[in-house]
Amino acid sequence: MSAPTDETEDLTGTRVELDVGPVAHGGHCVARWDGRVVFVRHTLPGERVVAEITEGGPGDRFLRADAVEVLDAAPGRVEPRCPVSGPGGCGGCDFQHVDLGVQRELLGAVVREQLSRLAKIDREIVVRPPLDDTAPDGLGWRTRVTFAADPEGRLGLRKHRSHEVIPLDDCPIASASLPPVLTEPWPAARVTAVAGTDGDRLAAAYDVTGPLPEVEADGIVADGRRVTGRAWVRERVGHREFRVGGAGFWQVHPRAAATLVDAVMRAAQPRPGERVADLYAGVGLFTAFLAEAVGSDGSVLSVEGDPRASRDARRNLHDLPQARVVNGDVERALRHGQAGDRCDLVVLDPPRTGARAKVVRRVAALRPRRVVYVACDPAALARDVATFSSEGYELGDVEAYALFPMTHHVECVAVLDRRV
Ligand SMILES: C[S@@+](CC[C@H](N)C(=O)[O-])C[C@H]1O[C@@H](n2cnc3c(N)ncnc32)[C@H](O)[C@@H]1O
Repeated sequence: MSAPTDETEDLTGTRVELDVGPVAHGGHCVARWDGRVVFVRHTLPGERVVAEITEGGPGDRFLRADAVEVLDAAPGRVEPRCPVSGPGGCGGCDFQHVDLGVQRELLGAVVREQLSRLAKIDREIVVRPPLDDTAPDGLGWRTRVTFAADPEGRLGLRKHRSHEVIPLDDCPIASASLPPVLTEPWPAARVTAVAGTDGDRLAAAYDVTGPLPEVEADGIVADGRRVTGRAWVRERVGHREFRVGGAGFWQVHPRAAATLVDAVMRAAQPRPGERVADLYAGVGLFTAFLAEAVGSDGSVLSVEGDPRASRDARRNLHDLPQARVVNGDVERALRHGQAGDRCDLVVLDPPRTGARAKVVRRVAALRPRRVVYVACDPAALARDVATFSSEGYELGDVEAYALFPMTHHVECVAVLDRRV
């Protein structure tokens, strides 16, 4: 073990013994060494480990490290199901070494900590598995995976915080229904494999430099252009079917869309005749169920930035004339009055960066009685909740779901009500 050093030395590769503290957002835990914070992967709170520093040098406020030997294991540690998920391996998973129930406790602690630190709101957060979970062991659930190609065209996933590709023959969290793209080298920078609910299989390659291999799939797409078959898959949620183009957003766990529709509809409580805005609407998943609920006397504005997703949304919502699809940036659409000057209800499902203050203020200016915020990043959620709070909205129920088992990602559905 090395002794504490001065702050000018590059510490990468140094091995240190650490007592591991709480989990932090991003798939690691916090420890302290030599007066500095160390973010340690492949460990659990309460463990004593030997950790190898992976990043940290002169003047860095914190270091990063991988636990390479466990001296005292914490309850909840299990044998990883993936042979390349450990230190120095594939960066696709964060918690292969953790029991699924304990993974959910860790995710709950992260959401609680982010809300407390960034929004000054203290909440117990219970993280639940998806409704009617089809992957209760946390494996075989990913219906969309983007693999990167190494210089020989072999597909794999990148190392954590690195461009280096770890070539893979198999990925234990990937759905068995994906097209078998890992069997062939690809003359492309990356390949997305997609499996739809009804068994449709699509392979979409990007930055293509040569003829693509023939793989078993219902469609192959190169740089957004159809090569063979179709360029989209069908997804089913309850009684509704959605068409999703290869590049369009759709939740990756096969039970995620249904779980979130259930949570959003319970949270939103839409009433017949209401005016609703569904922002960051993708191919119209929530819009469809909201439009059915408000009926022909109500209306739903569905705003999405990706033109192909908006085209899919128009098709998916053709039986619901009360739904209006607007393609464009959410902030601009609201600034240009697309939602009118009042709304009863707003559903908001922004990307990882969150909605940010400008959009939150525009939403608050519509004076909806309730905002339902679907968040894939708890830090962005907490920041936006703080802005909503300063705009007269109070945080109600927060539901959290583990829709990405083995990873640090967690999905929240939060209610914000206007203070009267
Ligand atoms: C997390 S997805 C949610 C999609 C949809 N609600 C669903 O559940 O299927 C976020 C969506 O926001 C879109 N998006 C990202 N930034 C945007 C912006 N500034 N304005 C409009 N849409 C945006 C993305 O294209 C993506 O479809």
